[in-house]
Amino acid sequence: MVARSLLYEGKAKIVYTTTEPEILLAHFKDDATAFNAQKRGSIVGKGEINCTISTVLFQYLEKQGIPTHWLESISANQMRVRRLQILPLEVVVRNIAAGSLCQQTGLPLGTVLKQPLVEFYYKNDSLGDPLLTSDRLFLLELATPEQVNQLQQMARQINRYLSEFFQRCDLTLVDFKLEFGYDAQGQLRLGDEISPDTCRLWDVAETDTNRRVMDKDRFRRDLGNVETAYQEVLRRVLAQGNEG
Ligand code: C5P
Repeated sequence: MVARSLLYEGKAKIVYTTTEPEILLAHFKDDATAFNAQKRGSIVGKGEINCTISTVLFQYLEKQGIPTHWLESISANQMRVRRLQILPLEVVVRNIAAGSLCQQTGLPLGTVLKQPLVEFYYKNDSLGDPLLTSDRLFLLELATPEQVNQLQQMARQINRYLSEFFQRCDLTLVDFKLEFGYDAQGQLRLGDEISPDTCRLWDVAETDTNRRVMDKDRFRRDLGNVETAYQEVLRRVLAQGNEG
C-alpha cells in the first residue's frame, strides 16, 4: 500500500490517502502541543511510542468487540486505518478529578468520582474546544439524541476495558479523550489514538502527586522526564499486551 497524498496534518499526526479509497495511513509525529497549541515542543520517540501503544490498545478493544479504525501497523510510527467521517466531538471520560474538571468545578485533584463522568467537547480549535451542554450539542446539530446515547454507552464500555487493562499495568486510568466516526458502511467506530497524549495515567505505586504522573501532563506542567514516562508506559503496555 502506497501513501498517495497528504490529507490532513494535525498537531500529533499526519494522515495520507492511499491507493485504496477507504483506507488511510496515519503517521504519528514526535511534535507535542498543549493548551490549544500555545505551548509547543517535541517528545523524542513519541511518534513510535504512541503508535505502538495505540496499536496494542485498539487490538485489545477489537477483541472485546469495540469497533475501531485500526487495520494494521506498517512501521513503528505508521498504521493503516479505515477512513472515518469523524464526528466533531471530543468525548472525555473521567474516573478521577484532574485537569479542567478541577479548574472548572473546584473539585480537589485526585477526587475519586462516584461514577465515571462522560463529557462532550466541541472539536473546534478556533473556539478552543469548549465543553458542550446537551442542549448546545443539539442546537449545533453535532449529533442526534440516539447518537449521544450510543457514544455514551461505547465510551463507558471502553472505559471499563481500558481501566482493567491499565490496572494490570499498575497504572490508574484517571481520564481520557476519545474520537468517533462512521466508516463507509455506516458503522460507528473509535478513531484517533489512545496514548499518554490522550490519557491521564498515574503510577499505582507512587503517592507523590508529581512523580506518579506518567502522561502528557509531564510536558504540560514542565515536570521533566517526559520521555522516560512515555517509555515506561510503553514497556508496561507491551508486557501486558503480550500476556493476553
Ligand atoms: O484538559 P482536560 O482535563 O479536559 O482533559 C481531559 C482528558 O482528555 C485528558 O486525559 C487529556 O489528555 C485529554 N484531552 C485530549 N485532547 C484534548 C483535550 C483533552 O487528549 N484536546
